[in-house]
Amino acid sequence: MIKGRHLIEVNDFTLDEIEDLLNFADRIIQNQAKYSELCKGNLIATLFYEPSTRTKFSFESAALRLGAQVIGFADAMTSSVSKGESLIDTIQTMACYVDLIVIRHPKEGAPRLASKYSQVPIINGGDGGHHHPTQTLTDLLTIRSLKGTLSNLTIGLCGDLKFGRTTHSLTKTLLRYPNVNFIFISPQELKIPEYIKDEIGKERYLETDSLDNSIGDLDILYMTRVQKERFFSEEEYLRLKGYYILDQRKMKMARKDMIVMHPLPRVNEIATEVDTDERAVYFKQARYGMYVRMSLIAKMLGKGE
Ligand code: NCD
Repeated sequence: MIKGRHLIEVNDFTLDEIEDLLNFADRIIQNQAKYSELCKGNLIATLFYEPSTRTKFSFESAALRLGAQVIGFADAMTSSVSKGESLIDTIQTMACYVDLIVIRHPKEGAPRLASKYSQVPIINGGDGGHHHPTQTLTDLLTIRSLKGTLSNLTIGLCGDLKFGRTTHSLTKTLLRYPNVNFIFISPQELKIPEYIKDEIGKERYLETDSLDNSIGDLDILYMTRVQKERFFSEEEYLRLKGYYILDQRKMKMARKDMIVMHPLPRVNEIATEVDTDERAVYFKQARYGMYVRMSLIAKMLGKGE
């Protein structure tokens, strides 16, 4: 049972619980109207200490589409955080008012800390370069819906694999499924952290800096943005931000049934000419994100089927 629990990283849930969440998301997709009052009377908070478009608004639209209501902030400096209030005190206060809290924070571990002091479930909406579990649930629903399976896949993760929390959460989760293999495509400076490679085991991944040489082997290409806000030097960011640009020339080398995913926002790593290619699914992915969050909210509140 997911009811009343926190979601700080995807591994907080078993594979059965994840499947259950995805199945309920599928049922919501098939008959959204049926669930429009499922969480009537509930109130959730979105506390975003870092910028967001998809995560914040997909949570808020998910809650509203379930008949719940939402309060929160998109800029912590409009709250008593600007007066010096600690995260722990903010959380203990908000937990007095709402039934569930979604938090995004630049500091790794902040949502875990918050969960220790909260009487209501906490969902991690992204913590620094660490985890982003609800993006991973979004990615799983997208892959399962469009590829029909979460097993026997070769996924290429491309771009900023050092700071990109979406790639960390997704990799740690997909390695729990049988015969999923990884190709990590990044410049030397932005390689996937050692601790994640150690968990995967050498026989299941390759590392390369060449997208051209690997794109033809992929079932899924997961593109990511170079994470400007986590760089210490502007010069280093500017040097690396144009390293990979997916364009039609590269798409010609890919399989006909490969899909291109991206958690978004995109900066320049996918040329807009790729958007009309039917293998480009990143905006569909954003929509799956809303459905999976509807499923998650309902189940955490004990209302899911
Ligand atoms: C990602 C994030 O915040 O980590 N965005 C998202 O939630 N869809 C990716 C990013 O910011 O690059």
